[in-house]
Amino acid sequence: MSALIETIVALRDACDQARASGRTVGLVPTMGYLHDGHRSLIQAARAETAFVVVTIFVNPLQFGPGEDLGRYPRDLAGDLEACTHEGVDVVFAPSVAEMYPQPSATTVHVSGLTDGLCGAHRPGHFDGVTTVVSKLFSIVGPSRAYFGRKDAQQLAVVKRMTADLDLPVEVIGCPLMREADGLALSSRNAYLSDEHRRAAPVLFRSLRAASDAVVAGERDPQTLAGTIRALVASEPDIELEYVEVRDAATIAPITDIDGDVLVAVAARLGGTRLIDNVGLSVAGSSISVDLGTFRPSLKGS
Ligand code: PAJ
Repeated sequence: MSALIETIVALRDACDQARASGRTVGLVPTMGYLHDGHRSLIQAARAETAFVVVTIFVNPLQFGPGEDLGRYPRDLAGDLEACTHEGVDVVFAPSVAEMYPQPSATTVHVSGLTDGLCGAHRPGHFDGVTTVVSKLFSIVGPSRAYFGRKDAQQLAVVKRMTADLDLPVEVIGCPLMREADGLALSSRNAYLSDEHRRAAPVLFRSLRAASDAVVAGERDPQTLAGTIRALVASEPDIELEYVEVRDAATIAPITDIDGDVLVAVAARLGGTRLIDNVGLSVAGSSISVDLGTFRPSLKGS
């Protein structure tokens, strides 16, 4: 059974004890309502570190006014069961008052990388993410922390923060987990109606078409974005928020598809905001495409 800890003092104590007994600490920060994407991060942490901490905290700082903070799905009992099943040592599920006993006067801001993509559409979002992740790094003191490539911009931002501030933690990026039909797993998929659930995989198919085009020789970011826009337009209920082709590490705009490239989309489907991406590594004629990992389709469906 994973231990449930709700206070910072008790979590620090548990991590201190683990380190004192020579165990390396691995951290998987989450907002809960765990799915197979989160589970794959936990499994990576379990394989590489001796004491695994999963944090479950719906961080108000990273939600803007009018976003889904109030209705974000929660299931602590189910999450505890999943963590126990995965051999997690500690689940940290603090209250908002525990994490922010007073309004935070200190904010961690990563500039540049947070200007575009989700940063442009969710003002203040990444400051909320980097502030809470810094707090979690400071409380837990992990040797390694695991983040999904589903949130590719978040991963790049957290890596940059860690490098800039010399934080003594290795930030590990893990594969994007997808349903069998390509939809990226997300806690927010629970919001989708049946009809919208059927429409949603067009985002994945458009990204796959873009990566196919690169494999076939296309090197123009604008043309790729056009391919994606045209495919997504075939689903009238989906409203694209952005399509961006960027340098994967710096998130800077590029004029040519070369090196490590991120092709990222965000869209709204009903009231639900979905994001997805594909990673490309292009070195001359050698191209590798990272579409993520697919869940096997369920029998009979
Ligand atoms: P959350 O959305 O719960 O995601 C927690 C971690 O799981 C993130 O690193 C995210 O990239 C990863 N993840 C989510 N869906 C995934 C998928 N389909 N495949 C692989 N990994 C996936 O991201 C957050 O929470 C928060 O911003 C957080 C980092 C916890 C800070 O509050």
